[in-house]
Amino acid sequence: MEWRITCFLLAVFTLSLLVTTACERKSEPIGKHENSETLESLEVEEAHDSKIKIGFSMDTLEEERWLKDRDMFKQAVESLGAEVVIMTANGDAARQVHQAETLISEGIDLLVVVPNNAEAAAAIANKAQLSGIKVISYDRLVKNANIDLYISFDNELVGEMQARAITQLVPKGKYVYIGGASTDNNAHLFRKGVFNVLKPFIDRGDITVVYDQWTIDWLPSYAYANMEAALLANNNQIDAVIAANDATAGGVIEALAALGLAGKIPVAGQDADLAAAKRIVEGTQTMTVYKPIGRLTEVAAKLAVQLAKGETIEEARKINNGKIEVPSVLLTPIPVDKFNIDETIISDGFHSREDVYN
Ligand code: BGC
Repeated sequence: MEWRITCFLLAVFTLSLLVTTACERKSEPIGKHENSETLESLEVEEAHDSKIKIGFSMDTLEEERWLKDRDMFKQAVESLGAEVVIMTANGDAARQVHQAETLISEGIDLLVVVPNNAEAAAAIANKAQLSGIKVISYDRLVKNANIDLYISFDNELVGEMQARAITQLVPKGKYVYIGGASTDNNAHLFRKGVFNVLKPFIDRGDITVVYDQWTIDWLPSYAYANMEAALLANNNQIDAVIAANDATAGGVIEALAALGLAGKIPVAGQDADLAAAKRIVEGTQTMTVYKPIGRLTEVAAKLAVQLAKGETIEEARKINNGKIEVPSVLLTPIPVDKFNIDETIISDGFHSREDVYN
């Protein structure tokens, strides 16, 4: 009896083996043999490996805009068939250097960097260059180093737009300037733009800048403290404030609110943060400057992939970074106040109407 069961089981096993082999053979393309299958999978692996890999070294995700930069840049790079590895230094210049080293050792084809510190990031550019990796300075300029491209907005124009808007409302009086982080080249450009416009007013004696300070690491708490100091030193007699971004404008407006002055003194910011857009419709912030991040990431991704492929990029515009004339792309910012908020940041989908007005 037992040998019959064994025979039966053996028969079933052999049959199932035959069926499986037949099925496998059936799914094989005609003319293929085992070796070509191995070859094919190798080719797939190679194709995967040859995908362009971009490293994106970010300083911070503190301000709302950087989340957009991160997500939109990733999307833009991927839509071009490349991939991106992102690291964020949380406002720490030394950590950013380490992270960039990691990216370089991971075999990226090109490095896009938003420097925490314009000068310290030269070390990043030097390391990349030694490894034959091209560098794009994104939004902020890396100073005193060989970099291949700089892509940003016209940051001097950002400051000019702020000052034009505020001088139209307040052509005479006491001004406060709350700058950004002095370690960020942009902070210098924003300030330069503001003072380009204020200069004739100052020269005529119509405007006096009674307080002018940087904000360490762009922290709103420092902007709050600076504004408090400015108010105290001037017996609360301030006529207008220009802040280097919306986060610092938020600190300024909190300090004004503590004295019941929010909405009574014009305040300018930039970035078109949602909080700032809300303050504009509420009336506590006068204006912001909108920098379409989608456009920036689109251009940056396209040029990054081209450069990584070894293509040369001809940019007529050159900006001196202290070491070389860097080929540069500067996009145009847009001033936004309560009158054009709908046809700018809302119609562009940067923020929804519900989010801004609720
Ligand atoms: C950027 C601003 C940003 C600021 C703080 C600047 O370099 O241009 O958009 O608000 O950094 O992160």
